Amino acid sequence: MLTILTGSQFGDEGKGKVVDVLAPSYDIIARFQGGDNAGHTVKVGGRTFKLHTIPSGVLYDVRLLIGPGVVMNPRVLLEEFSQLEEGGVVVDGNKLGIDAKTSIIMPYHIVMDELAETRRRERIGTTKRGIAYAYMDKVSREEVQFADIVDKERLRRKLETILPAKRAYLEAMGADDEQLERAFDTEWLFEAGERLSCHITDVSREVNVALSQGKRVLAEGAQGTHLDIIHGTQKYVTSSSTIAGSACASLGVGPTMVDEVVGIVKAYITRVGEGPLPTEQHGDVGEHMQQVGGEYGTTTGRLRRCGWFDVPLLRKSIALNGYTSLVLTKLDVLGGLDPIKICTSYELDGTTLDYPPELTSDLARCTPVYEELEGWDEDISGARSFEELPSAARRYVERLEELLGVPIPIISTGPGREQTIQR
Ligand code: GDP
Ligand code: IMO
Ligand code: MG
Repeated sequence: MLTILTGSQFGDEGKGKVVDVLAPSYDIIARFQGGDNAGHTVKVGGRTFKLHTIPSGVLYDVRLLIGPGVVMNPRVLLEEFSQLEEGGVVVDGNKLGIDAKTSIIMPYHIVMDELAETRRRERIGTTKRGIAYAYMDKVSREEVQFADIVDKERLRRKLETILPAKRAYLEAMGADDEQLERAFDTEWLFEAGERLSCHITDVSREVNVALSQGKRVLAEGAQGTHLDIIHGTQKYVTSSSTIAGSACASLGVGPTMVDEVVGIVKAYITRVGEGPLPTEQHGDVGEHMQQVGGEYGTTTGRLRRCGWFDVPLLRKSIALNGYTSLVLTKLDVLGGLDPIKICTSYELDGTTLDYPPELTSDLARCTPVYEELEGWDEDISGARSFEELPSAARRYVERLEELLGVPIPIISTGPGREQTIQR
């Protein structure tokens, strides 16, 4: 049984929390794209784990996989191991498998990302984790793969071939001495490769064998639908395909094997970095969402931009992913706002649109059309059943289901594992 889970907005929908909640029902949890630009938060008891590369099911006894469509920074991965070990979780070769073909984010990718972002006239607001440049090397077939770093001789040969061209490229970008030094600090990779060698595997093979044995596999997405490299709000997107179809391509499993596609959706919308956000709120409402929702980037600490729920964008997410159900997160954050608005369509050049225009420049010109619903004042973070929610909160969920035409069987009312309502 294969489930694909993706973010339906611009990332940070609460994928980490939801994967942690769903993990006990799965045998394997596999990350299929992105890199440590992702920041997935799992809160259990008093502890908070911020995961960037390791699948969010790590606190349970499941097999975790990092697929070949991921770009992986070994240094960040090893830091995650340490964070988890402090919390009593050991990540050994039995627990985590990394595909031999996973691309490595090299120090020069990070410097290139920094330089490109600094020079851009219109910034993207990247996480400066080297994501675009690592994927560029995959596509141009000049990547360093996980199999290269676990074999010292192979890594030495690879670096000898690749580094001169990277140096020339960085010099042309105008890198200074400090940046060049950082870019080519690669000796640590030999030790990192040795420490990680026990994790090497063939992810596609593992997933297909597991499925043939009737096991349950969850594919965990990073980022969000509208940050997709092909269908997102270019150029304000990440460099991988974030939508459900990408899970099959990247994990190496046929689309006929997919049983469920779950979309994670926040009860409002947030975005980190640049790019259009039609329902963005700058006044008290936006501030309420930022403060009550703790809307600071997990990876970069940047304040997230916030706005009302955007139904047209969600309609597109449903089309792009084929969601069979949605998990609604952070409903608690809307408590205290009255009225609560839902953007049901846009106005653009005198026309009403219930689906986003294809071009980012047109989306940026859309004016939201809102429907208003009654708010609630109660703290709902302790509710454990749908019936315990105030009637206005139930009405909000039901109205979203009506507008979207997809069921919402799970609602999250707080960061904790137990703050989850299964209807
Ligand atoms: P992800 O990238 O999709 O995994 O999301 P992040 O972890 O980056 O951001 C979601 C933030 O919201 C984290 O700090 C979570 O702990 C928190 N969170 C998740 N679900 C809820 C919820 O239902 N209510 C509240 N108040 N916080 C939540
Ligand atoms: P999770 O998995 C929110 C955004 C960056 C920037 C753009 C490109 O935690 O939801 P990149 O570094 O990928 O080249 O940056 O994409 N971005 C995210 N925003 N959540 C994420 O991941 C993100 N990963 C990248 O802010 O706007
Ligand atoms: Mg995040």
